[in-house]
Amino acid sequence: MRHPCLVSTSDPRPSSAVRPVAATDHEEKVRRKDTRLDNYVDRYAARTHGMTASAIRALFSVANRPEVVSLAGGMPNIADLPLDAVGSILNDLVVGNGRVAMQYGSGQGEPMMRDAICEVMRLEGISAHPDDVTVTVGSQQGLDLLTRIFCDPGDVVLCEAPSYVGALGVFRSFQCEVAHVAMDEQGLDPVALQEAITALRAAGKKIKFLYTIPNFHNPAGVSQSLERRMAILEVARRADLLVVEDNPYGLLGFEGDPVPAMRSLDSDIVVYLGSFSKTFAPGFRIGWVLAPHAVREKVMLAQESATLCPPVFSQFAISSYLARHDWRGQIKVFREMYRERRDAMMAGLADHMPAGTTWTVPAGGFFVWVTLPPGLDSQAMLPRAVTARVAYVPGTAFFSDGFGSRHMRLSYCFPTPERIIEGTRRLGEVLKYETSVHETFGTGVRPSVIMPYEAPGANQN
Ligand SMILES: Cc1ncc(COP(=O)(O)O)c(C=O)c1O
Repeated sequence: MRHPCLVSTSDPRPSSAVRPVAATDHEEKVRRKDTRLDNYVDRYAARTHGMTASAIRALFSVANRPEVVSLAGGMPNIADLPLDAVGSILNDLVVGNGRVAMQYGSGQGEPMMRDAICEVMRLEGISAHPDDVTVTVGSQQGLDLLTRIFCDPGDVVLCEAPSYVGALGVFRSFQCEVAHVAMDEQGLDPVALQEAITALRAAGKKIKFLYTIPNFHNPAGVSQSLERRMAILEVARRADLLVVEDNPYGLLGFEGDPVPAMRSLDSDIVVYLGSFSKTFAPGFRIGWVLAPHAVREKVMLAQESATLCPPVFSQFAISSYLARHDWRGQIKVFREMYRERRDAMMAGLADHMPAGTTWTVPAGGFFVWVTLPPGLDSQAMLPRAVTARVAYVPGTAFFSDGFGSRHMRLSYCFPTPERIIEGTRRLGEVLKYETSVHETFGTGVRPSVIMPYEAPGANQN
């Protein structure tokens, strides 16, 4: 008997054994098309099940309206870039070297780009060979490549509590389990790290790596001291654990010289991720992975299969910018601009937050982590805040396990200092209202579902 799939549609002989089945299949498909938004829903790979849109994405379209002060997004403020100078570098590049700059290139990244990356990393004490660098499409792709080469479904990645939302998305998409490790004001806690490793291994779990953001943490706003870095590396060495150091903000410190990168303290167990997104511009999408030699080979192969080669034009553009422009001076300009915004945020929070609210004091980077008075829920409160024309990211976005509702991330990188102050004022009003409702109705009641709230001065911009 022939398999139904082998029946040709031009076969002149009717086959009663096959046709009814095919017709039913077709009818079923038509029926599904009528009722489903996504006709492919039962065909996606299992790994896509973890790829969910953020519950707060819808609110962000509202949050991006000009009348709303958005303390939510983490967009670098590139208004201070000298666009004329960048424009002339790009013009010279196209006219003088366009045929090479617009071609395919090396899968590992252009040699001059990798040389320049090594020079940038020297600022944080890293001495690296360009052969060990692979250029990526932003450090976000570095995260993807590392997870791709190390993790099978069910493997564990250790992350700080809280952790970068974009990294959690990558780990989810590769069906990893995320285990959060406690932090304090100096970042990841090495004692908690040791405890987590012991407990997970006792439970038979395979831990593939520790993912950490040592400088100006996104979202926590804290940084690891040198002693803390050494203690974490000591735990990792004893546990034979790979460390992925994600460092997009390291050169954007407001106080003194950068603390040496973890990679500068141990080149055997640390894979380093860097990026030009915050020190130049994110639109070029250039980051990099600096890996121990053996790992580098796998990163390169994964990169080639993902992109053939990272964007050649962007690499030429950034290399020319670094060669022709005072990029160190430009980073200082960025630092001063972000410091002014950080100061505005600190002043606004001190002036407007109700008693019982606490926050971190970032010494660089873009973010502040706020802890709300007991009983308040940042996720439930968000629609009310947006009504009051201020937006933030609820803390739950930075945990893989639903934790974080008493926290929120505020970013000061993009709005002007005046807007930041105004944003904290509006947020303060919302928090005071929520606190008063909570005090009136007691625990067990979510303040933000009690009654509508009209922001003071809601009709003014
Ligand atoms: C901690 C962290 N890692 C990685 C990234 C990704 O940056 P990019 O892909 O632009 O280099 C970001 C972006 O905000 C980040 O905050």
